[in-house]
Amino acid sequence: MNDSTAVSPEKAKPVKALPDAQIVTSVKHWTDRLFSFRVARPQSLRFRSGEFVMIGLMGDPDANGKQKPLLRAYSIASPSWDEELEFYSIKVQDGPLTSKLQHIQPGDEIILRPKPVGTLVLDALLPGKRLWLFATGTGIAPFASLMRDPDTYERYDEVIMMHTCRDVAELDYGRELVESLPNDPLIGELVGDKLKYYPTTTREESPFMGRITDNLRSGKVFTDLGLPAMDPAVDRGMVCGSLDFNKDIMEILEGFGLNEGANSEPAEYVVEKAFVG
Ligand SMILES: Cc1cc2nc3c(=O)[nH]c(=O)nc-3n(C[C@H](O)[C@H](O)[C@H](O)COP(=O)(O)OP(=O)(O)OC[C@H]3O[C@@H](n4cnc5c(N)ncnc54)[C@H](O)[C@@H]3O)c2cc1C
Ligand SMILES: NC(=O)c1ccc[n+]([C@@H]2O[C@H](COP(=O)([O-])OP(=O)(O)OC[C@H]3O[C@@H](n4cnc5c(N)ncnc54)[C@H](OP(=O)(O)O)[C@@H]3O)[C@@H](O)[C@H]2O)c1
Repeated sequence: MNDSTAVSPEKAKPVKALPDAQIVTSVKHWTDRLFSFRVARPQSLRFRSGEFVMIGLMGDPDANGKQKPLLRAYSIASPSWDEELEFYSIKVQDGPLTSKLQHIQPGDEIILRPKPVGTLVLDALLPGKRLWLFATGTGIAPFASLMRDPDTYERYDEVIMMHTCRDVAELDYGRELVESLPNDPLIGELVGDKLKYYPTTTREESPFMGRITDNLRSGKVFTDLGLPAMDPAVDRGMVCGSLDFNKDIMEILEGFGLNEGANSEPAEYVVEKAFVG
């Protein structure tokens, strides 16, 4: 697919009809199930790379003609220094929000509640040498933010982005981003050769096949990357996928001796759901 449309913020509609409205500045469809979009950033919005916010649209009118906001949690995919906000979204055909959200166009408005929160932040981890980012599907969104944050490369010698999807096209958003970063005019020099990418597919043939979890358990990941097995003294992890994926990865990380951290109590790894259900 790869349809891309954009509008400059100056040309966007000036009137804000929704509460906490923000103007959509560009939309890109990656597959029939995935799209990304950018919106204007409220000047007052401060967040830490990796956090999520509530976004949405007005729901359908009820019997009395009243409309309520229809909101869902979304990881901010852009880094904290970016002038705009980027989101990477699923399209669930009968999903209350994304059945509508998938049709947004540049110049449209979305609701953005400006209260960022989340556990996938660098401050929730103890200092270390290697940062492992584990994602399936749209779970790569918070890491698209962290991979663009200079702080990530200032804190770690190596950053390994592991992403598993069913099909090759579902990797494209992450792949394009990772491949662009070493040449990025703003952070390319910091990224250098620190960022390693390990994409796998489970249903369509690609150079690296299999679930991240199976490839970690068998040790294939470490052989392929030429790295030693994980060591709680130097390795740190961030996890974002379905509930089952998170549970399985946590078990593996605990097996390597890593413990779960939080904002209030940093440790060796942190976890967040990419969706509920
Ligand atoms: C902390 C957090 C962060 C999130 N960040 C993102 C994000 O960055 N991008 C994003 O697309 N979604 C994200 N989600 C999921 C999001 O909140 C919504 O569930 C999603 O937008 C679908 O909304 P909906 O109303 O259309 O369907 P819902 O009624 O919310 O979901 C319907 C069903 O669709 C499936 N589903 C929902 N979201 C996904 C998904 N992302 N990938 C695969 N299957 C899914 C589930 O089986 C779910 O039961 C996040 C959820 C949480 C809890
Ligand atoms: N992606 C599609 O093309 C598609 C199409 C229609 C409907 N759906 C539905 O949409 C929902 C979400 O689909 P999704 O593809 O975004 O997410 P998903 O089902 O969570 O799968 C995403 C990737 O994660 C892998 N995975 C799932 N559970 C794992 C675990 N416990 N450990 C390690 N890896 C794991 C999957 O491998 P496996 O392939 O081995 O499971 C797949 O490669 C599902 O209910 C699905 O049925 C998806």
